Amino acid sequence: MKFKKLAAGLLCLMLSICLMACAGESEVIDSIVTRNETEIQMESQGEETSQEASVEPILGQEKTGNGNILIAYFTWADNTYVENPDAVDVDATTSASVLPPGNAALLASWIQESVGGDLFSIIVEEPYSSDYDECLDRAAEERAQNARPTLTSHVEDMSRYDIVFLGLPNWWYGSPMAVLSFLEEYDFTGKTIIPFVTHGTGGFASTLTDIQSVLPDDITMLEAIGIYRPEVKESHQAVQEWIAGLGIDFDAGEGSSAATAETGENRVQISFRDMQVVVKMEDNSASRNLLEQLPLTLEFEDYNRTEKIAYMDAELDYGDAPDSCNAVAGVMAYYIPWGNLSLFYEDFRESDQLVPLGMVESGQEFIRLLENGESVLIERIE
Ligand SMILES: Cc1cc2nc3c(=O)[nH]c(=O)nc-3n(C[C@H](O)[C@H](O)[C@H](O)COP(=O)(O)O)c2cc1C
Repeated sequence: MKFKKLAAGLLCLMLSICLMACAGESEVIDSIVTRNETEIQMESQGEETSQEASVEPILGQEKTGNGNILIAYFTWADNTYVENPDAVDVDATTSASVLPPGNAALLASWIQESVGGDLFSIIVEEPYSSDYDECLDRAAEERAQNARPTLTSHVEDMSRYDIVFLGLPNWWYGSPMAVLSFLEEYDFTGKTIIPFVTHGTGGFASTLTDIQSVLPDDITMLEAIGIYRPEVKESHQAVQEWIAGLGIDFDAGEGSSAATAETGENRVQISFRDMQVVVKMEDNSASRNLLEQLPLTLEFEDYNRTEKIAYMDAELDYGDAPDSCNAVAGVMAYYIPWGNLSLFYEDFRESDQLVPLGMVESGQEFIRLLENGESVLIERIE
């Protein structure tokens, strides 16, 4: 084991030196991958064998519901700060993933759409540079040092989850070190881990063995899906087919219409362009009052780089609603002084001027993409 770590360290050191020496650094990863094709193929073949060996079909197990599913992912876009998002060319191969949703986040949202469960973004304390070459440098250094970057996002109660989908990009032929920080923070004993990887030309490389190396022996690792960077946006169906082939009888869980009917829970869908955000509503007079007014078409605008706000024609009656609201990212609230709806995409604070209306269940990463003056449809869903 020690030898393996030493060898990995040496490999990373060599890669870092190569990185610094190469001209045209932004292309360096893909070109290294091409030059080392045989090595990578050998690695990939190794992955496939060990992957197959560890796949245990769990057909016939009891329905999972979705309260026991966590969809955790690491993506560059959630771990960097882009000073001027308008200046980013989203079609450029190297800069595409600095703007949310990152590739792993997009795949995660589709998984949640299919199986339910809770989304969780792995966030490092010290964001990576949004400059590709600088990000590569730091990632290479962290890998060479076998570092464990400090995380600021934490799962409240990991024991709740039996199934953990784990999303990660290939960074330097393997897992970003932050994913290993995440895996070492919790006890995954007995859980089913289902990796999904997004990558450049390097494929899975060592991503799967990296994560396996820090997980306990008695986990069940199911077949991973790997999606090549330029194909991510067109891979919705591939993700659904992969999920269908996993051998788990996911029921629709609490997001299903059957569950809604049983529990009396209400959900609204917020749609703009081809994006949808689903909000599970609170049960209070203000949220009921809003539901009565739906469907509504509203124009949103950004406020303080924290929330998107929209004004309604009629005020909400907040008579029996809680007298304060903890406005964290994902909260939908009503701001009493101005009578506007707020959708928070960054954490704000507890406020007695906000009335909680609901909490985003899926598509949270899309909120920040709402443009000023953009028309949005809010409707009730079954
Ligand atoms: C720091 C860094 C290192 C990368 N290293 C590799 C690599 O070794 N092999 C590869 O195929 N792709 C590599 N890539 C490309 C990413 O795996 C790919 O762009 C992925 O889709 C990004 O996902 P994300 O948007 O969720 O971060 C690297 C990207 C970055 C930023």
